Amino acid sequence: MTSDELRNAYLDFFAEKGHDIIPSASLIPHGDPTLLFTSAGMVQFKDYFLGRTVPANPRLASCQKCFRMTDIESVGDASHLTFFEMLGNFSIGDYFKKEATAWAWEFVTERLKLPPERLWVTIYLDDDESFQYWKDIGVPEARILRFGEKDNFWGPAGDTGPCGPCSELHYDFGEEVGCGKPDCKPNCECGRFSEIWNLVFTQYNQDENGQRTPLPRTNIDTGMGLERTVEAITGKTSVYETELFAPLLERVARLCGKKYGIEKETDVAMRVVAEHGRGITFLIGDGVIPSNEGRGYVLRRLLRRAALFGRRLGLDRPFLTEVARVSIEHMGHVYPEITQREDFILKLIEVEETRFEETLSTGLELLDGITADLAKKGKSEISGKQAFKLYDTHGFPVEITREIARERGVTVDEAGFEQEMERQRERARAAHKFELKGTVRVGDSLDIKTSCFVGYNNLECSSTIVDLLVADKSVKTIKEGQEAGIILSSTPFYGEMGGQVGDTGEIIGSSGRFSVSKTVRVSPDIIVHQGEVIRGSISVGDEVKAIVDVERRLDIARNHTATHLLQMALRQVLGEHVQQRGSLVAPDRLRFDFSHLEALTREQVEKVS
Ligand code: SER
Repeated sequence: MTSDELRNAYLDFFAEKGHDIIPSASLIPHGDPTLLFTSAGMVQFKDYFLGRTVPANPRLASCQKCFRMTDIESVGDASHLTFFEMLGNFSIGDYFKKEATAWAWEFVTERLKLPPERLWVTIYLDDDESFQYWKDIGVPEARILRFGEKDNFWGPAGDTGPCGPCSELHYDFGEEVGCGKPDCKPNCECGRFSEIWNLVFTQYNQDENGQRTPLPRTNIDTGMGLERTVEAITGKTSVYETELFAPLLERVARLCGKKYGIEKETDVAMRVVAEHGRGITFLIGDGVIPSNEGRGYVLRRLLRRAALFGRRLGLDRPFLTEVARVSIEHMGHVYPEITQREDFILKLIEVEETRFEETLSTGLELLDGITADLAKKGKSEISGKQAFKLYDTHGFPVEITREIARERGVTVDEAGFEQEMERQRERARAAHKFELKGTVRVGDSLDIKTSCFVGYNNLECSSTIVDLLVADKSVKTIKEGQEAGIILSSTPFYGEMGGQVGDTGEIIGSSGRFSVSKTVRVSPDIIVHQGEVIRGSISVGDEVKAIVDVERRLDIARNHTATHLLQMALRQVLGEHVQQRGSLVAPDRLRFDFSHLEALTREQVEKVS
């Protein structure tokens, strides 16, 4: 059975059992700020489990693209992956343990024809119910093992969300594989057993404090690892030997002129290149672009790690687009998005890899120098400053420096590195503060905690003068012709922020009138109205009316909406990778900065507009 056949067999089987087949979601979880990546099939169904929304059919099945960071440094051995596919069947308050267990057994023994004597089951410590179901199916008691939270309680994905005890199916590759110890059993690290399917009995929701409360209903969330299962059904002992990786390894071998399966270190490097090359293809395909934080940082780290391992194979010119090409060729029929975005994926990899290659040699030389120097001095720690320089000047993610260091028996001063990073952030903050200097500064003597913004619903309100600022000094009264800044107890004026200009308008008291020409935000909570007294005088404590120039505000609002429409159109025309990088929203115009690799063609501009 091939991977294509396994996918189809799985989805067909669960369709027969009344499940709706749901397409894989993006690797970027939609509307879920708690997760960096889609790490399991259940991620796109979280709201169903939590009872927030109800699916048309409570039985669902999918083959989901997943990405997990946890094992990145183990990638290169026989089994660990960052990107993988998960087959899953889900019950949203419908069937529970009995059916999930029976169907899992039926599928693996009757459809996949895995020999029952090679299958072992694990259950959660006190889960006697599952024990009984497995026993009734015919699994010998001796092959049903109980484990605790670490192995048999799943989730949540991230820090919060649905979770529950689980039961796993493990495949035994046979005594000849692994440690050979007489008590070797599932969950032994030696590689003899492979967990192929996890059945989660999703019963709880875990909150930020780790507190678990029962979900409205009991659910099923299962996950079968596609790569591992192909490995088991085709009698291989590594996921890299399956047809999912063979073409990738072949291409890597051809590129570097080395053979796979001859020498351990070469094999490790080839696997890393193949695995990461496939992973970055899918990440970029779903709109992740390299950056120094979040998802973009993960992508960057993966790509650079692959480039470094490529070096070990003698690949000293950019080569990762070749690996991406093979991934797209072999998986584009399952995930058409990577075929649709092929040009962009290849271009982005080329740009990012070339940029890294430019500093890679000097970075590696520097690192060689550092470790040689440490050895001479009998020391074993790379300083925070050195690690920071490698990161900042040569693009070595600190995790990679740490990994190379570890191979050479030295460590990295992590705290020192963090300190350097903090200094850099501080410099960035200082630069930002400097920008504000030209505007009004709120004197230290002021004791203003907030000026309440009411301008989402009102464009006019009654308020009180809390403070008056003239040339950075707090004053009691301002007179006709005087320029000043006014702070109100509450205000409908929007203070300039996030690229959107502030409002203009008037502040009118019983003894004077003030024209607001600019509204700025000097801290997240303090809004200053800058302008001039055009009649009479204004004093602290005056009751006033604050009135925003409505037409101008509406123009700004329309341009704000237009930035969202523009972003949507850009994504449709150029691809999902388009992300906002900045914007200016004014009454008469807008500017929208976005991420894309090259200038737009005339046709693209026309299409977008
Ligand atoms: N959510 C579980 C897992 O990731 C089963 O799908 O293993």
